[in-house]
Amino acid sequence: MLDRLEVPVVAAPMAGGASTPALVAEVGRAGGLGFLAAGYLSVEAVAEQVTATTALTDRPYGVNLFVPGPRSSTDLSGYRDRVKGQSPTEPGEPRWDDDSYAAKLELVMALRVPVVSFTFGLPNPEDVHRLHAAGSTVVVTVTTPQEAAQAAQVGADALCVQGSEAGGHRGTFADDGVSPGGGELFGVLAALRLVRAKVDLPLIAAGGLVHGADVAAVITAGAVAAQLGTAFLATPEAGTSAAHRQALAEGTRRTALTRAFSGRPARGLVNRFLVDNQDQAPAAYPEVHHLTRPVRATGDPELMSLWAGQTYSLVRPAPAAEVVARLVAEARQALSVAITRISPV
Ligand SMILES: Cc1cc2nc3c(=O)[nH]c(=O)nc-3n(C[C@H](O)[C@H](O)[C@H](O)COP(=O)(O)O)c2cc1C
Repeated sequence: MLDRLEVPVVAAPMAGGASTPALVAEVGRAGGLGFLAAGYLSVEAVAEQVTATTALTDRPYGVNLFVPGPRSSTDLSGYRDRVKGQSPTEPGEPRWDDDSYAAKLELVMALRVPVVSFTFGLPNPEDVHRLHAAGSTVVVTVTTPQEAAQAAQVGADALCVQGSEAGGHRGTFADDGVSPGGGELFGVLAALRLVRAKVDLPLIAAGGLVHGADVAAVITAGAVAAQLGTAFLATPEAGTSAAHRQALAEGTRRTALTRAFSGRPARGLVNRFLVDNQDQAPAAYPEVHHLTRPVRATGDPELMSLWAGQTYSLVRPAPAAEVVARLVAEARQALSVAITRISPV
């Protein structure tokens, strides 16, 4: 179904409040594919969001799930003390949980969600089989050709190839705990090229795409669609917080990959919390996520996670359907310029 989209634009799932039924519906209305983000939400809240979405649109939409990882054996008391000293509020308990993964899987199967995507790991082949039986298209986010080969083996129908430019969490299956991105970093075009050489599946490209020319670039590089996250953060339909919107609009901060907020590499705007903890943050997700949650909830832009892709400063606030229409117009223009350049008449 992904290669039959009217417009090859996907609004990325964005957990933490940015993805909303209204955003999904508007992107669908404009011919693209919108995603709800099930990460961090209760099963009931995911069900409510799906119901709200299907009340707004009869277009296809997706739901994204976080695949749980192993419990950390790292002692996190030192990091908790450190964070406590930097914040006006008491940090949370660094507990492990599985984000209600199994129950969310049952829910999306029962609701026959058209597209189900996974990040942070692989669904097991039996679940992929059951999703297919429920009529869902299964997408797995990958960041390397090796992850792509594994995703193909479990029966994924398509892959979301995420470049290191991307805002938010990297979809890496296992954090190596050493390199800034949890593994080797590939930009979106390099990742696409390498993945295409390894697997024969429809690919959705993500990471730093902000202009229609970027959409055209990834399509000509073999993707079936472009997935944009940060470009939709500034739309009125998104649930982006006021402080996050303002930091994006200022456009003055640089971005960096960090484990400081969640214990997993993610790209966001550099603020005081990120700088102070960049070198100390343990690779322990979701324990660190729970530990910093009350601190992030203060709404202080120097303490919050301000997820953003590398091209965020080019994003201008506009309704989601206008963003999609602009991307299409720019992509057409970019392609006609490219054809003239490559084979002048
Ligand atoms: C605020 C925010 C939250 C995100 N949450 C998720 C998520 O829940 N699941 C997911 O697969 N990707 C998530 N991502 C990553 C996107 O899927 C996508 O890879 C990324 O936004 C692409 O880069 P861009 O932001 O430069 O467009 C998130 C990105 C942002 C900016």
